[in-house]
Amino acid sequence: MLSPQNDDTDTLLPLLRVVVDNSQNPIFLVEPDLHIRYANRAAHAITVQLAVSTGRQPSSHRVSELHPDLLPSFALEMAASAGEWNGEVALPIGQRRPLVLMLQILAIRGADGTLECYGVSARDISFEYARKSELQSRNAELEVAYRRLKGAQDQLLQSEKLASIGQLAAGVAHEINNPIGYVHSNLATLQEYSKHLLTLIEAYDRLVEDSGCSRARVEVNDLRQRLDFSFLQGDLPQLIEESREGIERVRKIVQDLKDFSRSDARDKFVLADLHRGLDSTLNIIWNDLKYKAQVVKTFGEIPQIECIPSELNQVFMNILLNAGQAIAERGIVTVSTSVDAGQVVIAIGDDGDGIPEDVLPRIFDPFFTTKPVGTGTGLGLAISYGLVKKHHGTIDVTSTPGEGTLFLIRLPITQPTDEADQP
Ligand SMILES: Nc1ncnc2c1ncn2[C@@H]1O[C@H](COP(=O)(O)OP(=O)(O)O)[C@@H](O)[C@H]1O
Ligand SMILES: [Mg+2]
Repeated sequence: MLSPQNDDTDTLLPLLRVVVDNSQNPIFLVEPDLHIRYANRAAHAITVQLAVSTGRQPSSHRVSELHPDLLPSFALEMAASAGEWNGEVALPIGQRRPLVLMLQILAIRGADGTLECYGVSARDISFEYARKSELQSRNAELEVAYRRLKGAQDQLLQSEKLASIGQLAAGVAHEINNPIGYVHSNLATLQEYSKHLLTLIEAYDRLVEDSGCSRARVEVNDLRQRLDFSFLQGDLPQLIEESREGIERVRKIVQDLKDFSRSDARDKFVLADLHRGLDSTLNIIWNDLKYKAQVVKTFGEIPQIECIPSELNQVFMNILLNAGQAIAERGIVTVSTSVDAGQVVIAIGDDGDGIPEDVLPRIFDPFFTTKPVGTGTGLGLAISYGLVKKHHGTIDVTSTPGEGTLFLIRLPITQPTDEADQP
């Protein structure tokens, strides 16, 4: 501790003076009225720096004139009452990064206890501070990037899952296709046979009635009642009919699953009927649409086109789901097809919210979404764009906020022949 009672004061003080004068840390002695009584070289440098940036005279001798925040009044009060204050001050200086000082303010009292002056030692931590805030903003950027990647990973996982579910579904569909086939055709035969049997029974009935044999009549009537034959007679054809309808529905679902996944034809361009793809996609997302949208289909005469059907189905699904999501309560989704200038055109429209003008240019950007977290990943249209491009087609969109949106997908009927040579 520096103390005037020290025996070596006389020899020590000049030495300490040299140390303090030349310390790289700014050191001030400041009167209670804020006059600067002493400033070492580093402190002088700071006063000059502050004066230049604030346009004041560097000869200023009051701390508050150099910069109002250099020694905040609350810090001085704290130092006066507690003896010491430690803290940071950030002083904005023009355009450059702020001057940030780590301050220690000591209240120095005379022998009678009155406040003689403040001893202020500072350390310039502007560089560390700038580094820290840069690190913080980098960190925030990383955080955002991480979230995006996480979203992408989720989406990938999701599509991985979809793909494996698709494969599984296609496998199952393939397996049950056969049994469903013969159940379906057997039911048709059964319907025929049961009709014949019932006709035969009616003939027997008439014979028994006409035979005049009362024992036979009683026996037959008794059996009829016990077996509730007249109910059975009416119910049997109905049961068979319902079973046929049921199996017909299952057959359709299986077909849709097969059409949708088409895993047997993965990544291969084949000739396919887009109407089938659109129908099976509509069936698959029917649950998402049915409460909100009436689907109006206007299918024109279009040729089969060379494409990867599962990928185009993915495109149709993404756009149809968006259309459904754009409709708040009830609306119409239109799906139409036509041929124009040698290309097949698929138009998918909705009368939902529409897309604001400033949003429109960004909707195909990966990760761009206006939907709440959990609903949208912003990848649907980006993926669709990529898939349509792979098919040498285009996607265009027109939208009027409040009225609706129309997506136009144009696809060539045949793929360019040099496809394999392209990079
Ligand atoms: N039919 C539509 N009506 C209104 N906005 C749409 C429509 N289709 C796409 N959008 C806008 O484009 C954005 C991106 O769509 P998409 O890539 O499918 O991502 P997501 O659906 O996950 O948000 C959506 O968030 C939405 O703002
Ligand atoms: Mg979407």
